[in-house]
Amino acid sequence: MVVKLTEDSFSDLSCELQIDLLTEKELESHVSKEILTNASFEAKSKQICLFLESAQMFVGVESLSADELRVTFAQVAKKLSSYKYKSVKIRAYSAILARAIVEGLVLGSYSYTRYKSKKDESVDMEIFLASEDKDGKKLPYSSLALQVDEALSLCDATNYTRDLVNTPPDDMTPEDLSLCAQELAADSSLECTIYDEKFLKDENMNAMLAVARASVHKPRLIHLHYKPKNAKKVITLVGKGLTYDSGGLSLKPSASMVTMKMDKAGGCTVLGILKAVEALKLPVEVHGFVGAVENMIGGNAYKPDDILVAKNGKTIEVRNTDAEGRLVLADVLCFAQERVKADYIFDFATLTGACVVALGQYTTGIMGHSGNLKHLVRKASSSVGELSASLPFNDHLKELLKSKIADMSNIGSSPYGGAITAALFLDHFIDEEMKQKWMHFDIAGSAYSESSWGVNPHGATGESLRTCVEFIKGL
Ligand code: BES
Ligand code: ZN
Ligand code: ZN
Repeated sequence: MVVKLTEDSFSDLSCELQIDLLTEKELESHVSKEILTNASFEAKSKQICLFLESAQMFVGVESLSADELRVTFAQVAKKLSSYKYKSVKIRAYSAILARAIVEGLVLGSYSYTRYKSKKDESVDMEIFLASEDKDGKKLPYSSLALQVDEALSLCDATNYTRDLVNTPPDDMTPEDLSLCAQELAADSSLECTIYDEKFLKDENMNAMLAVARASVHKPRLIHLHYKPKNAKKVITLVGKGLTYDSGGLSLKPSASMVTMKMDKAGGCTVLGILKAVEALKLPVEVHGFVGAVENMIGGNAYKPDDILVAKNGKTIEVRNTDAEGRLVLADVLCFAQERVKADYIFDFATLTGACVVALGQYTTGIMGHSGNLKHLVRKASSSVGELSASLPFNDHLKELLKSKIADMSNIGSSPYGGAITAALFLDHFIDEEMKQKWMHFDIAGSAYSESSWGVNPHGATGESLRTCVEFIKGL
């Protein structure tokens, strides 16, 4: 599917199918009201009615809002995928709504087909967006084009992230992920450096190395960066890139292990954000650091009871090898802060099942010390239609990480508040001067789902990418 903005008016466009949005008020006075009502159509969201003979698709909406249109057009995209139309037309409605329509269509039509031997016969469907509002009034083309181009870049980056996350673990090892980052840099103005196991040893990144130890696939530390000449600010992004999380010796039960290829979503989101920022040529310097590791079992696996010395010298008592993401992030956060003096540092991780319990599958948990930063991130997420909620720190939960024999334990002593204790663990690795500039995104629920929701299909979603790019745009 290709979405194209055109200066042609809706009526001048000759296409095989036209799509009309209908609110309740519009349905009341519509010429096809009777036939639509007979077809049990109501002007409510999620109502789609296709008349093959007249080549018209009617789509019910409760309001002409970006949030509703984004999700509605994801459904339209799914519906269209069962037909072989070569050309379809819709109105742009407004610059903001055109953006939502494009996002819905492109994000909603994504599917991961790499391993299907029989691919669906694809038609090259072109969807034309006419530059006019609901009453047929011409809209300024340049402001529409700006929004549409931006939406297309964001969707492209989101689908790139989804592809990486959906790739099975044997085909996306830490080395494979590092090659993808290098490829991304080769095709763009991004720069990429990959660090291997020996480098990690030299850098005393022993917490990350311990997690990696039992895997035959050696760990990689990825540094991908974007340095425009006119940079106004610097932001560092750190991603958890567990290409597989078996749980290690604290082995996951079989049912919970399935889908753990998605434990690299934080890292893949960081790569996707850099792809988007580069495509949009944003005037901000962005550094992405991804700890790419596989958490496996074996004779040399790290163990519950081990004590690890992280890069910053702090000691960690391992009480559960399945709480591995925070160990990898601890070292990568230290490395990132040492290498880059940034105005902000964000980390993205499928860190805890507890976050999914707290907020449900669809909402990203955001945590940090700065109320103002949380406010800005929440604002960015609601403006792009992604769900996020802040989980508050407190000193009582911090106490739960205390260890009798090391500086801290890698899990809380109580199972409650696990998303927050995980973030408080990371806090031990944030430098004093960065405390107010740090934000942690727990995407354990929102990054992946085995059933489709909103604009997301089965599998990886790329959620939080658009929020972060929106935040960066505001800098
Ligand atoms: N990768 C998991 C978190 C996760 C769980 C992501 C479900 C997506 C869906 C993480 O490494 C993990 O296993 N965390 C443990 C922490 C516990 C041992 C303190 C968890 O959430 O159970
Ligand atoms: Zn784990
Ligand atoms: Zn994990």
